[in-house]
Amino acid sequence: MAAGTEPPGQELAGKVAVVTGAATGIGRAIAAELALAGASVVVADVRGAAEAGRSLADAGAAAIGVATDVTSPEALAALAAATAEAFGGADILVNNAGIFGTLEFRPFTEIPLAEWHLVMDVNVLGCFLAARALVPQMRERGGGRIINIGSTSQFKGTVGLAHYSASKGAVAGLTRALARELGPDGILVNQVSPGFTISDGVAKHLESFAVMHARAAGARVLRRDMVPSDIVGAVRFLAGPWAEFMTGQDLVVDGGAVFH
Ligand SMILES: NC(=O)c1ccc[n+]([C@@H]2O[C@H](COP(=O)([O-])OP(=O)(O)OC[C@H]3O[C@@H](n4cnc5c(N)ncnc54)[C@H](O)[C@@H]3O)[C@@H](O)[C@H]2O)c1
Repeated sequence: MAAGTEPPGQELAGKVAVVTGAATGIGRAIAAELALAGASVVVADVRGAAEAGRSLADAGAAAIGVATDVTSPEALAALAAATAEAFGGADILVNNAGIFGTLEFRPFTEIPLAEWHLVMDVNVLGCFLAARALVPQMRERGGGRIINIGSTSQFKGTVGLAHYSASKGAVAGLTRALARELGPDGILVNQVSPGFTISDGVAKHLESFAVMHARAAGARVLRRDMVPSDIVGAVRFLAGPWAEFMTGQDLVVDGGAVFH
């Protein structure tokens, strides 16, 4: 679709978007925004996917929820099959599922090995496996978009969250490698890196984030808390016709703390 030919406000009409980790938080806001832009939406989450899909459908969107653990190739194969059955296949994948809000700040010497692996599995392997499961559908449909959700922790090197910072650095490398590999197929791969955001996951554990929360707004040019709705515009842009000559990029959305 050439930029400017789509109906106003419905630039994703006819497109199918899969959003992982979309039952809550930032992912839920992204799923709602892509639906608003006219996309059919598949909510994929390890918890609460069916309810979130139903709630989008009740609001008038073409949406389903599919229980999916992004660390499981079998679950992702089932997600791809459910997407094909409901809507014919995926055009857009937003890799948003992540482990963040439940993490405790610890010296790196005290991070349990199991927690290191969990963070890497969900935050990095999950993006890799979801792309592997859905890229064949994008190729069949003549192109697509992958948008990975990174974090400004990759730039800041958040003390106490060495595993999380490393995982988001790995996502940035994956974004670039997939952008080069998939460009010839018309599949554009970009990333959005949010700053500290008061998502559902963070709000539930705000006491663990007290120091980060206290510093966040003051470190920004735009001095206020960041919320999930602050991120959705960048994702919608990268999913749509106005970003059709853009790939391998990382858009920082954080109110002007990190200039990238
Ligand atoms: N909140 C922040 O400050 C912040 C900042 C930068 C980046 N991010 C990133 O944004 C994304 C969303 O974060 P959030 O704050 O909205 O978190 P959240 O905890 O509110 O939501 C995360 C969602 O991912 C799902 N999930 C967890 N493991 C999964 C798995 N194995 N398979 C499928 N789904 C799984 C959870 O069920 C949940 O619905 C994450 O990638 C996070 O790293 C968050």
